[in-house]
Order: sequence, then structure tokens, then C-alpha cells
Amino acid sequence: MKIAICGAGTVGTGVAQILHDNADLISLRGGEDIEIAVVASRRRPLDGPLQGYEFTSDLSSVCERSDVDVIVELMGGTTDAKRLIEQALKAGKSVVTANKALIAEHGDALFDLAAEHKVSLKFEAAVAGSIPIIKVLRESLAGARIDWIAGIINGTANFILTEMASEGVSRSFEAVLAEAQSLGYAEADPTFDIDGTDAAHKLTILGALAFNQPLRFDQVHIEGITEIEPSDFKFARAFGYRIKHLGVARLLGASLEMAVYPCFVATSAILSGIDGVLNGVLVSSDAAGETFCSGAGAGAGPTGNAVVADLIDLHRQVLGPGSDALTRNDQPLKVLRPEETKAGFYLRITVEDRPGVMSAITTVLADFGISLDKILQEDAANHCATVALVTDPILQGVVEQAVAELEQHDAVLGKIQKIRVF
Ligand SMILES: NC(=O)c1ccc[n+]([C@@H]2O[C@H](COP(=O)([O-])OP(=O)(O)OC[C@H]3O[C@@H](n4cnc5c(N)ncnc54)[C@H](OP(=O)(O)O)[C@@H]3O)[C@@H](O)[C@H]2O)c1
Repeated sequence: MKIAICGAGTVGTGVAQILHDNADLISLRGGEDIEIAVVASRRRPLDGPLQGYEFTSDLSSVCERSDVDVIVELMGGTTDAKRLIEQALKAGKSVVTANKALIAEHGDALFDLAAEHKVSLKFEAAVAGSIPIIKVLRESLAGARIDWIAGIINGTANFILTEMASEGVSRSFEAVLAEAQSLGYAEADPTFDIDGTDAAHKLTILGALAFNQPLRFDQVHIEGITEIEPSDFKFARAFGYRIKHLGVARLLGASLEMAVYPCFVATSAILSGIDGVLNGVLVSSDAAGETFCSGAGAGAGPTGNAVVADLIDLHRQVLGPGSDALTRNDQPLKVLRPEETKAGFYLRITVEDRPGVMSAITTVLADFGISLDKILQEDAANHCATVALVTDPILQGVVEQAVAELEQHDAVLGKIQKIRVF
């Protein structure tokens, strides 16, 4: 499959890096190599994984090329990107895009155009980076009736709220935003992230997919996080909540709620634990109950990964029936026996409560080259004591030998409990 990468920025570079680094896997899983035929952007990339390919700044020219099968739109914006995608679809080329604004605002017309020309428009990367939530809604939950979706779908806003909520500090929204910018988590112009527009674009797409609705960005209720103050976090904590910026699409009778807003989420709820730049989406459906997906919501790698997955899907589509069979490497990897794998181990040893026992245990472990991460002793009744310890990572086979030797020791009573640390 030959592709044109249009837009040589963060995501374009991420896609090229993945295609280069994982070329063998991608070829195995997709059934064919994915090659970059041309890079189109405003400026020629002078370094990084996109340099060295044929380059053009004439975007429309890539749609006319017979050696390009798929156009990958990674420029952003809703004018030139829209023109490019329309031109590509009309030329009979499938398109993969990460452009949530374009899909949310003009998606329906573009999907109609794709259908008219019997090609695909794929957009997994447009919502929540590496989280395959579009696939979950379209494929995994295709047979279920969805009741609601609630998601943390903007990593910048989530990072700011997480930092503002940190116990013991009381930092203003402005101070945390400045830190997010210095760490590269927020754009120089973070308006769409903090005023809720970016989350609303993504929610528009999720809601339309979940409830088979037209894309109606203009009807999403949008609230950002700029009005939240440090004292709100203090009271949220006191009441047993955390403050999260959520996108919510919910079926209420014969109507829909479509909104993004900051809200109190119970500390025990799964979305409460999604912190920092992570995204998380919870879907509730009749058949499957609650399905939860979490992961990196943005960045070159996570977003590039979603683009590459769409490209592989497209090629499988071309291959048709049979392409969903398991792909097998010609030279299978050896599967290790448990004793050949390494882990830390928790050991609980019941011993006679007499001097020198603890040092006898640690000496046996040291003889086997096992070092300890944690150890404690607790006295029990009847002159017995319990020694509990956690080892540093070590081959399971070595731990088993050490345990067998310890169980022979006259101060060790009964069988030693052994549990892996994951
Ligand atoms: N970054 C992420 O983590 C992320 C996550 C999810 C989705 N997305 C989406 O992915 C898309 C790309 O994002 P990005 O972060 O990669 O953006 P970016 O770093 O700003 O890159 C955009 C690239 O496209 C070029 N470009 C923009 N408009 C152009 C035009 N009219 N003609 C020719 N070239 C043009 C830019 O060239 P110049 O640099 O010369 O202007 C730049 O090389 C956007 O739709 C964004 O919403 C991004």
C-alpha cells in the first residue's frame, strides 16, 4: 500500500516513525508493506523520519497520483484539510485522518462523499489518541444498545485539574497552565483545550457513533475549566469527590444529552483515577454493561499508532475475506517455562521464634543470589513468628530452589507461601 502523508508535523512524524520502526510487524499483520510515496506539507521536513521522501507543497497534486493509494491527512484545520479530503475521495482514494475538528464539523458530508465514491474515510486517531474507542463503538459494541458514554477526552485539561487537585498545594489555574505549557502538555495557544472546544469535537463524534446520529457539534453544550478555583478542589475532597472535565453523551428517553463540562466525580468511580495527561472513556450498554478504555490521549506515538492501525484495516478491507485470520510469524518465538521467567516474589515463612532465625533465612536467600526489597517479622502465638518478605526480581526457578532449601531448615515450620509480584 502506498500512502501520501499530508502534514509533516507531530502526528505525521509519529506515523513515519512507526512505519519505519515496525515495518516487519505491519507487513505481517496487514499482509503488505505500507510505503510512503510522497510527503506533502507547507515546508519540507529537514530532519526526522519524514526527511528523504519525495516532497511536494502542492497538496492537490498528491490526489492525482496513480502511485498513491491512500491519503493520510494530518494537517489539521477545516479549510485546506477539507478541500484535500474532498479531492482525494472524489479521485477514488481512501483517506485516514486525525482531524477531529473537521470530522465533527463537516464529517457527514465527507462520509456521504466517501460512500458515493465507494472509498473509506477513517478517523480512529481523531478521538483519544491511542484508545481504540471508535473501534469499540463501531465493532466491539456493534450489537449493543448504548445508554451513555462518559469520558475524559482532553489530556491537557485533565493534567491541569490533576495538578490543581494535588493535596497540600493550592495552585491557581493560571499557574498550572503555565507549567503544562513548559512541559509541552499544552499548546502555546491552549484555548480549545481549556475552553472545552476540543473535547466537544471528540464528544460530537462519539455521540454520533454511539447513538447513530448526525454529527451536530453546534448542539453540544460546552463548558471549560477556566472557572475552577483552588478552593473547589478542597471542598470536592471533603465531600468525597474529584473534579474532572467530562464529555457526556447520554440517552434520556427519546432525547440526547450532549455536553462537556467540569463535574464532581465520586472518588470511588473509575474515571476519578484517570490522572495527568491520560484519557479514559466509559461506555454503558445494555448487553455488555460498562466497558472502560484508558490510555494516552495524544502525542506523536499514540496518535500515529491509531493512524497506522486504520491503514492496516484499510488494507485488510482490500484483501477481503480471509484477511482477518491470525497472522503467524514463520519462526515462532520460544515460550518460556515458568522457572525461566523473572519476577519479584513475596514469601511468607512461619518460623520458630528464637534468636538467629532471621539471619539464617537471609543467608540462605543470599546464597542463591536473592536480594530483598522488603522484610518484616511478626510474633505469633506458641513461640512462632511470621517472616514476610519481598525479593527483588529473580528467576522463578532460583526462588523455588531457595524455598525448597528453606523448608528443610529446622527453624522453618510448614510450607512457605510464595506469590509473584506483578
Ligand atoms: N498532536 C496530537 O497529539 C494530536 C492528537 C490527536 C489528533 N491530532 C490531530 O492531528 C492533526 C495534526 O496535528 P499535529 O499536532 O501533527 O499538528 P502540527 O504539528 O501543527 O502539524 C501540522 C502539519 O501540517 C502542515 N500544514 C498545516 N496546514 C497546512 C496547509 N494548509 N498546507 C500545507 N501544510 C499544512 C504544518 O506545516 P507548518 O508547520 O509549516 O505550518 C505541519 O507540518 C490535527 O488535526 C490534530 O487535531 C493531533
